[in-house]
Order: sequence, then C-alpha cells, then structure tokens
Amino acid sequence: MTDDAQSTPLESLSTASPAFPPTVEFAAQANAHAELYSWAAADRLGFWGEQARELLTWDSPFSEVLDWSGAPVARWFADGTLNACYNAVDRHVEAGNGDRVALLFEGEPGDTRRITYAELQQEVSRAANVLLDLGVRTGDRVAIYLPMIPEAVIAMLACARIGAVHSVVFGGFSAEALRSRIDDASAVLVITADGGYRRGSASALKPAVDEALGATSDALGPVDPPSGTTTTVRKVLVVRRTGQDVAWSEGRDVWWHEALAAASDQHTPVAVEAEHPLFILYTSGTTGKPKGIFHTTGGYLTQTAFTHLNVFDLKAETDVYWCTADVGWVTGHSYVVYGPLLNGATQLVYEGTPDTPHKGRWWELVARYGVTILYTAPTAIRTCMKWGEDIPAGHDLSSLRVLGSVGEPINPEAWTWYRRVIGGDRTPVVDTWWQTETGAIMISPLPGVTAAKPGSAQTPLPGIAAEVVDEEGHPVPDGASGYLVLTEPWPAMLRGIWGDEQRFRDTYWSRFADIYFAGDGARKDDDGDIWLLGRVDDVMNISGHRLSTAEIESALVSHPMVAEAAVVGASDETTGQAVVAFVILRAEWLDRVAEPAEPGTDPQPDVATTLRAHVAKEIGPIAKPRTILVVTELPKTRSGKIMRRLLRDVAEHRTVGDVTTLADSSVMDLIASGLDRPTST
Ligand code: PRX
Repeated sequence: MTDDAQSTPLESLSTASPAFPPTVEFAAQANAHAELYSWAAADRLGFWGEQARELLTWDSPFSEVLDWSGAPVARWFADGTLNACYNAVDRHVEAGNGDRVALLFEGEPGDTRRITYAELQQEVSRAANVLLDLGVRTGDRVAIYLPMIPEAVIAMLACARIGAVHSVVFGGFSAEALRSRIDDASAVLVITADGGYRRGSASALKPAVDEALGATSDALGPVDPPSGTTTTVRKVLVVRRTGQDVAWSEGRDVWWHEALAAASDQHTPVAVEAEHPLFILYTSGTTGKPKGIFHTTGGYLTQTAFTHLNVFDLKAETDVYWCTADVGWVTGHSYVVYGPLLNGATQLVYEGTPDTPHKGRWWELVARYGVTILYTAPTAIRTCMKWGEDIPAGHDLSSLRVLGSVGEPINPEAWTWYRRVIGGDRTPVVDTWWQTETGAIMISPLPGVTAAKPGSAQTPLPGIAAEVVDEEGHPVPDGASGYLVLTEPWPAMLRGIWGDEQRFRDTYWSRFADIYFAGDGARKDDDGDIWLLGRVDDVMNISGHRLSTAEIESALVSHPMVAEAAVVGASDETTGQAVVAFVILRAEWLDRVAEPAEPGTDPQPDVATTLRAHVAKEIGPIAKPRTILVVTELPKTRSGKIMRRLLRDVAEHRTVGDVTTLADSSVMDLIASGLDRPTST
C-alpha cells in the first residue's frame, strides 16, 4: 500500500469465513456452469468470440476477436459492425417478444408506466428522428442530464441508434460540474427535464442546464445567453416530468413531448463499427479534473450481456430484475440500460429514494412487482440494517432469488444480513467488483457455481485475468495483500480518457508496465479468493460513489474564505467513507470567525455551513464534507506533499501514526490542539 492508501474497515477482517454453496436446485437450473472457467482458460479469445456471436446480432460479422498490438490499445471485434439500440430493442420485437414488458416504471409520487419492447422501439425511433432533426449526427456527443425516468433510458438508446455518443451527467451534479463535462466533450445537445421527484418534492434540473450553458437562470422567464458566452450546445431537449415552471430559450429549447409526438416512429438503426464510441462517462480521478472514460460498442455490449446473463442468472421470460443504480453512474449504464435490455429482460425502474414516503418503499416495490433479482450497493444495505429488520419483514420478499452488491467493499455483517433478511436465507448473494473503466463486472461469484464467502468478490469471471501484486508487480502469495491489476485486455475495457491519451497511459498503464492498475488494494485469502480493500490512491468511495480528494480540495480553495484545504475519506459505518475536510482560513476570515459577533451586528459566518454549500454548488450535494475542521497548519512532507494518512488518523480519532517524514513534526500537535475551533459534523 502507498503511504496515502485510503483505508477501509475491511483491512481488519479475518478471511476465514463460512461459505454458502448454491443449492442443488439452483445449480441445476443455473445459466452458468463450472465449464465456462475451463473453456475460457483454455481459449480466452475463442470464448469471447463465441459470446459476441451468441449474445449479439451483428450487421456484418467480425473476422478477428482481438487486435492487441500492445498496451493500452485494444480493438475487439474491430471489423464487425452492429447497432447497440437494435440489439437492445428491435431484435426482441423481431423475435416475437414485442409484448414483453421492458420497463416497469414507478415514479417517486407513485405514478406508474409499463413499456413493452414494441413500445420502446417506437419511442427510441421517434427520439432518434428528433435527434436527427435537431442536427445531431453520428459521432456527435449528446449530454444527458435527467432524473431516473424512462426517458433517460430512451435518450441513451436513441443516441446509440444514430451512432451519437452519449455523456450522461448524474442529476445530482451541479451546474458547474455539468458545464465542465459539456465543454470537455464538446456536446452539441443537452437532454434534460424540468425536474424530477426527490424526497417527496419536485426538484428542478433545467436551471442548472441554463446556468451551465452560460445563461442567467435566477429568474423564471425567457433565458438570454449573455454575450461573449460560447458553448458547443445548439439545442436543449426538455422532458416534462414535474410540470414545474421553467425558464425558456426560444430557438434553443425544445419540449421532448412535442417533438416526439411530431416525429415518425420508423427509423433504421445505424450500423457502426465495433470500435465506434458508444458513450463517455466522467468519473473522479486523483486530480481536480474528472476523467471522461470512453467505451466503444462491440466489446462493451458483449461483456455487459454476458455478465448480466450469468452473474445474475437471468431468465428473461420469467425474471423481474431491479438494479437500484441511477443512470448517471456506470452501474446504471451497464446494468439498467445495456445488459438487461440486450438480454430481453423485464426490469423495474424506480425514480426516488428508498425512504420516501416511508422506509419500506423498496420492499413494497419488490413485493408489488414480484422482483426476482435485486442489485444494489452496500451503503443501501447498511442503511436498511440501521432502520431495522422489521421493516423488510413487513413485506413479502419471497419472489427474490438472486441478490447482488456493487460499488464498495461489503462487510461480512452486511452481506449475511442481506442474504438472511432480504434473501430469506435462501438466495445467493453476488459481490461484484468492477469500475467505470472496466465497463462490466470483472470479479464476482457465479451464483450457481461458487460457494460464496461473505465479504469477498472471490474470483475473476471466465475470460477475465486479475492478479494481486506487490510493489514490483509480482503476484503475492495466498494470504497476502497488494495491488489489484488486470493482466489481460477484456472486451468492455475503457478505450481511453476523452481527449487525454497521456493521462490514460499514465493513470492506468504505467504503474506496472503494460498491465492495468485498478487503483484498489486487495488481498488473496488462503484459498486464493480476492478480497477488495478499498482505494490506494486519492479517490474516495462515499456510498459507492466515487469522489476525488483533489476535486473537493479545489472546490474548497475556490471560496474566498479558504487559503488551503486537505480532504480525506474517513471510515464511516454506513457510507463506507465520509468526506472530512481540513481547511486553513485566510487571515482576515480567521479573525472574523474567531471573535463572537457583537450584539446587533450580522451573525458571524458559519464556516462549515458556508463551505458545505459552496462544495454543493461547485460539484454537487454528494460531495459535501461531512466534517469540516479549521486548522492552522497541514502536515506536509519536505517535498510539500500533504500527508493524508496522518489527517485520516485525526479524522478517525486514532493515535497519529509515524510523523518522521514531516517537514515540521510539530504540525500534528498544532492540529490536535486547534480541534476545538469551529467545526461541523
Ligand atoms: O474501489 C472500487 C469500488 O468502486 C471503485 C469503482 O468505482 P466506480 O468507477 O464509480 O464504479 C462503481 C460501480 C462499478 C473500484 O475501484 N468497488 C466497486 N465494486 C466493488 C468495489 N470495492 C469493493 N467491492 C466491490 N464489489
């Protein structure tokens, strides 16, 4: 581990744990059998070639599975052509399954929609024609900033249908964050909504788009872009979801419902080369600038379809699948949109939060829709544990047959609770490790094959090569820990960072020559099973969402109050990690906050409230520090690098570790003595 490894509670876990083998009945009906491992091990490329042919429909076949002339440039199925939307929608209709429900939508207020594959085909065709009318062409980038409603899925598929590249920005991100993503990808169109429902009320989205595009959005009314503002965006397509008032830019803004109503429902999907970009998705790295991870078509679709079918043991005719992720994250791309629809699944899409209007909402939905497969994040599971098991116990969860976990390490207590309370001591639980960059699940049990160990993602899937290595890149023996690497290219691997080839090479391919460095620590137990230990870089994982320490630090220092800031991810019982910020205030502010306000004068600014609001504005509410500690110094090495390890010790109330590499070792005493300054938790 590096000096600055982000630690997780899992580091202290014993790996000697009970295993839960699949029942004989489950194993007998499972899609995946143990032979998949031996087949893929004997002929990895032949295995993936067969999956690509079996699971997808190609407009023209590929002649070569992988062109790998050297890391990091991989071309999978390169001379084949296909269309992602045709594969996700049209071919199911052509196969006679047009009446099968694709999306069962439940809005937070309780409104519902059922969309069959035939209806989905009509909607995506209309939307594709609208995009073309609005001037979007194959290869153009389209930003999507929507709540979790069917139009989000339709918008993504409509882009794919015409060969445009979607860049979905999570609706919880701020106007600033949206603007930087639009600019980085030079998007020509934004698809948004008036708002979405969140925690019982309508929450606006369109004002953030107006602000991001450089227009004044303070007042409702006509939007006039200020002179001198440049944006590549020509049109904004607006879904009406909440009906709230919106500002409107004549000539730029177009109502989705009006445009779709006027559009033809006939559209022929555009066949693209397998390596044609399908989407860009921004994720946090170790610097302040998010990385535009981009994925291409053929390989990505092959691996999302394969993993969705086998890791969740999907039976398309009978299962009701539910992944609780938002389309703003990679899980929503691969396991709400592409994986399930490629496999012709019926799935639930839910707009809101688990506790609106009551804490049993999820379990009520499972019972009402007869959900059979549930895929969610450990944070959600731990939150439900906190709320108490009598809440799920009040609902009939007997339809569930497979449970999945993703996004962060799942502690064995949460794993066993999930299986016992939600899965009725009956269902397999699959802990799936992967990343925005990997595009699809990489390490996971197979539910009909693996004897599952609570807390371990266990083994690389068939066709995937992962290792745990030491500082020099040598595999560690069983029982030891090190860095997780991926030693062979895989179909859904990222093809780059949009517009930054050098950063792509530096971040992933240079730590260990020519093999992929994931940025995670891991341990192999005595059986060789893999346990993920959290990030080893300055990336944090808050509730399964990735945030960068550097990004939050630069948001903090952009406030006039702050001279310097250091952010760490401290262990948190529920959210895995929580953001803790140490800030040095500028001298003039320090005096102001140190003195109590004179009676009759303005109240003193509350540092924590002000800065938390500022971070929410710069990045989004998910990035708000849980705790802000005002300090007078930060611990730095002689070369000026902040020693976050020591700050984490403070944040986690531990004895501060080795301070000998500090330029000034008295700094930690100063920090400790100043901790009675204004703070917030
Ligand atoms: O640290 C790992 C953690 O989440 C990171 C990837 O985050 P992101 O790109 O946002 O994708 C999240 C959804 C795939 C990884 O580097 N992570 C993800 N899944 C697991 C996990 N850590 C432990 N166990 C997992 N199952």
